[in-house]
Amino acid sequence: MTIRATFTGWGKCVPPVKLTNADLEELVDTDDDWIVERTGIHERGISHVETTDLAEVAARQALAAAGLEPADVDMLILATVTPEITCPSNACVLQERLEAVNAAAFDLNAACSGWIYGTTTASSMITSGVAERVLLVGAEKLHWVMDYWDRATCILFGDGAGAAVLEPSEDGDGVLSTDLGADGGAGRTMVFPTLGTRGELSQIRDPFMHRLHFDGQAVFKIAVQGIERSVRRAVDRAGLSLDDVDAVIPHQANERIITAAGRRLGIDPGRVVLNIATHGNSAAASVPMALCDGLESGLIQPGSIVVQTAFGGGVTWGSTVTRWGERVTPLGVSDATLPPCDETVFDLLASNRDFYAPLHAAAEPTETGSYC
Ligand SMILES: CC(C)(COP(=O)(O)OP(=O)(O)OC[C@H]1O[C@@H](n2cnc3c(N)ncnc32)[C@H](O)[C@@H]1OP(=O)(O)O)[C@@H](O)C(=O)NCCC(=O)NCCS
Repeated sequence: MTIRATFTGWGKCVPPVKLTNADLEELVDTDDDWIVERTGIHERGISHVETTDLAEVAARQALAAAGLEPADVDMLILATVTPEITCPSNACVLQERLEAVNAAAFDLNAACSGWIYGTTTASSMITSGVAERVLLVGAEKLHWVMDYWDRATCILFGDGAGAAVLEPSEDGDGVLSTDLGADGGAGRTMVFPTLGTRGELSQIRDPFMHRLHFDGQAVFKIAVQGIERSVRRAVDRAGLSLDDVDAVIPHQANERIITAAGRRLGIDPGRVVLNIATHGNSAAASVPMALCDGLESGLIQPGSIVVQTAFGGGVTWGSTVTRWGERVTPLGVSDATLPPCDETVFDLLASNRDFYAPLHAAAEPTETGSYC
C-alpha cells in the first residue's frame, strides 16, 4: 500500500488587535469603499507579540488536534518571511519553546507560498521515511516591515499563524500530488530589501531600504495566471479533474485574485475558502488559517479532495492536492492563547509610523517596486 502524508491536526492563532479600514482612514489617504472593492479586506490582525508567540499558539492547537505531545514530533518546519531571528532559526526558537525535544527544526522561506513548499517538504520527508510526525507552521508578523504611510501596501497585509501535523497513512488519504515553481526574475515585483545581508551595515535601519517594495499590478497579473496553471498541473498529477475538487484553500492575497483564478478554473465559488475580509494577506500563515476555517465551516468532509494553492514573493507558487482523511474534527483542544493586549492598534503601529515618517516628509522617494 502506498504511504502518504496525511493531515492529522490543525490550528491557528489570530492576533486580538485589529486594524480596520476605518483605522486606516486615519493613517493614510484611503477609504473603506476603495479597500473593500479592490481587495475584499475589512480588517487585519496586528500582533502585539513576536512571530514565535503566534507560531506557538497555532502549533499547540495543531498538536492537541492530532492528539500528540510536542515530544512526539520528529520534524518542525516553520515557514515565514518575518522570522523573529535568523540564527538560531525561528524554528529552533519555537522547538525550545514547545519542548519538542525530538524534532529536527528549520525555517523555510518561500514567502506567501511557504505553506505549500512546507507541505511538499513535509510530505516528501514522510514518504521517504526521513520523518514520521511533522509539525508544519506558517507564522508572520508582517506589520513589522510595513510602511503605514504608504497606502498602496499597508492596507493589504496582516499578522497571524497557522499550523498542521502531518503523519503517514496507508489508507489512501493524504497528499496526492504537488506542484512547485519559481521565477526569480519576476521577484523584483515584491521585495523586502533589508531582511538579508545585502548592502552596507549602516543601511540596515534605513527606512527606504526597510519597507516593502511592491508593484501591485504586476503581482496581480502574475498571481492570477500562476495560480491557475499550478492548480491545473497539481490536479492533473493527482490523476483527477477539476470537477473532483471539493474544497480550494487559496492564499488570501486579494479577493479579486482568488475570484479571477477560480473563474478561470471553472470552480464553484462555494467550494473556495475566503477569509481575507478579516485577516488580510498574512503570507505563509494565510493558507493554514484558511484551512482551519475550511474545516470549521464543514466545507472539508471525510475523503474530500482539497486543493491548497499559493503565490508569493520570489516569485514562487505552488499547489497541493490532498485526499482528506476520515477525521475532520480535532481530537483535543489546547488552552494556549496569546497574552492579553492593553494597547490600541495605533499604539502598536506608532514605532512604524515614526520610523517611516522621514520618507514622507518631502516628496515620495523612488516609486515602489523599482528597488532591484
Ligand atoms: C495593490 C492593489 C490592491 C492595487 O489595486 P489596483 O486596482 O491595481 O489599483 P492601482 O494600483 O491601479 O491604483 C489605482 C489608483 O488608486 C490609488 N490607490 C492606491 N492605493 C490606494 C488606497 N489604499 N486607497 C485609495 N486609493 C489608492 C492609486 O494611487 C491609483 O491612483 P491614480 O489612478 O490616481 O494613480 C492590487 O494591485 C493588488 O492586490 N495587487 C496584488 C497584491 C498581492 O497579491 N500581493 C501579494 C501577493 S502574495
